[in-house]
Amino acid sequence: MNNPLLVVENLGKTHQDGAQPVTILDGISLQLSAGESLAVVGSSGSGKSTLLHLLGSLDAPTHGRVLVEGEDLHQMSARSQARFRNQKLGFVYQFHHLLGEFSALENAAMPLLIAGRPVSEAKEQAEALLRRVGLGHRLDHRPSALSGGERQRVAIARALVNKTPG
Ligand SMILES: Nc1ncnc2c1ncn2[C@@H]1O[C@H](COP(=O)(O)OP(=O)(O)OP(=O)(O)O)[C@@H](O)[C@H]1O
Ligand SMILES: [Mg+2]
Repeated sequence: MNNPLLVVENLGKTHQDGAQPVTILDGISLQLSAGESLAVVGSSGSGKSTLLHLLGSLDAPTHGRVLVEGEDLHQMSARSQARFRNQKLGFVYQFHHLLGEFSALENAAMPLLIAGRPVSEAKEQAEALLRRVGLGHRLDHRPSALSGGERQRVAIARALVNKTPG
């Protein structure tokens, strides 16, 4: 039997920073194994981004645990969390969060550059993905010179760049 890659146990998030505590998530439990896909659906404001931020170690839960390959994500050091995000996760944010000073190619290559891979290899893999999302003619454009959908496609290429066979 496959060990699950991701185990979420009784996860909860309550914001305490306003006048009243606001509970966004309460008692979320799920498991995912390698090769499985999961879509999180719900109305606007129901907590989808909050859940994904907790699963990505961008935010800390109020209660419950997230185990990634058996390791408690929110007990890891900030450094280990950063390594986990860099090497194991691909984020496509609701707002694209591209870096404005860098080209489409550099943005898509950024996870590999941060991981210390050779620049030529990082750019080659990023370019292949940008071509797959139809942006081969916009490699040198900065985000400000891309359309909204083009920015989202660069963000998708960046999220997948770790998975390209090296
Ligand atoms: N700091 C905070 N304090 C209180 N409530 C908050 C805070 N931050 C976010 N919320 C609330 O958390 C709820 C869930 O937000 P979240 O961004 O997870 O929703 P979502 O499901 O991703 O929605 P959408 O589909 O609109 O992107 C929202 O109602 C929001 O107002
Ligand atoms: Mg959202």
